[in-house]
Amino acid sequence: MRIAVLNGPSLNLLGVREPLVYGRETLEDIERRLRDVAIELGVQIEFAQRNGEGELIDCIHALRGRAQGALINAGAYSHTSLAIRDAFAAAEIPYVEVHLSNIFAREPERRHSALADRALAILCGFGAYGYELALRGLVAKLSARG
Ligand code: DQA
Repeated sequence: MRIAVLNGPSLNLLGVREPLVYGRETLEDIERRLRDVAIELGVQIEFAQRNGEGELIDCIHALRGRAQGALINAGAYSHTSLAIRDAFAAAEIPYVEVHLSNIFAREPERRHSALADRALAILCGFGAYGYELALRGLVAKLSARG
């Protein structure tokens, strides 16, 4: 089973970007941890971070027929991007939506997700640890499907 982990705009700056909101772990730290969890779970994992919406969509399309599932933190695009939601539908990739912060405890414009209704699950508010939880949950759900 191959899982893709996609991160959107400004998540390349994790660790230094608003650390009180997003924590001090870098994206590299998160990816290192996910690699270990993937080995433990016996799945293959790949990573991409893109700042542009179109670039993220290209990454999603490229997963078609190659990956069985994805984790995505689409950053601010999560709140607006029907295009990213549609890309997952077009590529037929089941996904779990991840956010470091609890988006429902933040400004009103962050409390809506354009991706949520097609997500297998949503996980937010656990900081960097949320990615690990989401990977475990996604693999369990996909394995249960057979
Ligand atoms: C975020 C929440 C978004 O509102 C924000 O634009 C981000 C990060 C999170 O992980 O908490 O870039 O997705």
